[in-house]
Amino acid sequence: MSEILQGAYGPDADDVRGALALPGRAYLDPAVFAAEADAVLRAGWLPVARESDVAAPGDYRSVDLLDTPLVVTRDSEGEIRVLSRVCRHRGMPVVEGSGNAKALTCPYHLWRYRLDGSLAAAPAMERSQTFDAAACGLPRIASTRWGGWIFANLDGRAAPLAPQLEPLAERIAYAQPETLVTVGVVEFDSPWNWKVMVENFLESYHHIGPHAATLQQTNPGLGTYEGTGGDLFTILENPPAEGHDPFVVAAIFPLTLMFFSQGEAPVGVWYELSQLQSAAFRLRVHLLAPPALAASPEFAAAFREQVTAIHMEDIPACEGVQRGVASPLYAPGPLSHLEACLWRFHRFLRRCGASASLPAA
Ligand code: FES
Ligand SMILES: [Fe+2]
Repeated sequence: MSEILQGAYGPDADDVRGALALPGRAYLDPAVFAAEADAVLRAGWLPVARESDVAAPGDYRSVDLLDTPLVVTRDSEGEIRVLSRVCRHRGMPVVEGSGNAKALTCPYHLWRYRLDGSLAAAPAMERSQTFDAAACGLPRIASTRWGGWIFANLDGRAAPLAPQLEPLAERIAYAQPETLVTVGVVEFDSPWNWKVMVENFLESYHHIGPHAATLQQTNPGLGTYEGTGGDLFTILENPPAEGHDPFVVAAIFPLTLMFFSQGEAPVGVWYELSQLQSAAFRLRVHLLAPPALAASPEFAAAFREQVTAIHMEDIPACEGVQRGVASPLYAPGPLSHLEACLWRFHRFLRRCGASASLPAA
């Protein structure tokens, strides 16, 4: 195991009963974050968009996961690509945000790229002896689709995603995740390490604390459990109190966090983490609903309010943990059986650290 990450994630345990929380430096040390960016994040499948974000030919969506500006495009044939959006001239990002365009034109000197990344035009380059249009396309990043999401793999070495997720696909098939459309996005600055967010998302033990007046009333924390888990995913089951519906929380490691309600007309939530730094990231909470509900502004407004209220309850916990683990008196505490999904996530991290230390094949 890479030495930095071994120290960072602490000892492994065979099951949650022997498991501890992570050491403080896992959340704090910029050197750990740098090692993790390669071994965990660039090595994995990271969500970059919903397919419905680039539904029409010409649609594009910019995304900054780490220090690699990307753009997701759909070309006139309907093909989706994930490209670097750093101009091949002098490095300006050729586009920001989302939109629809026939081509991506860098705002600096107007080099123009087709939606497949190839260079279509570059003004006043005919006297250059080093300019070769064919060699100046935007690099393409490995991508795949699953459940209505588009995923990118920055190092290009990740194993195919879908075969590793079959039990998860089966569990959430009832919600038809690939058909859900985004009816709103709520954004939050999040001044804490990304793993604090993943861990907060993956246990409902804390329903009894921050969510005592909300989720604890509908889905009591002490009744929750890990349904199924694998090397690359975990599923947290949330049985209901009398008269309410169950819901399911899941993660595709390292970074894809999702929630689906059960009952009539299941809805979903996707926590998109981007602009990752050692102790900060940007959170975009995407509200996903069946097309039949998407037409109703009242529904979208109520959904937004509910999801915002829940996250507002989580913010003090995440902020508090980020502050607390910096104390010299913090030491990793024991996990409850209600935190089995965290144990599984931590195993995934340790495995990534271990494979990072193997010589390249
Ligand atoms: S940096 Fe893009 S055209 Fe010059
Ligand atoms: Fe929470």
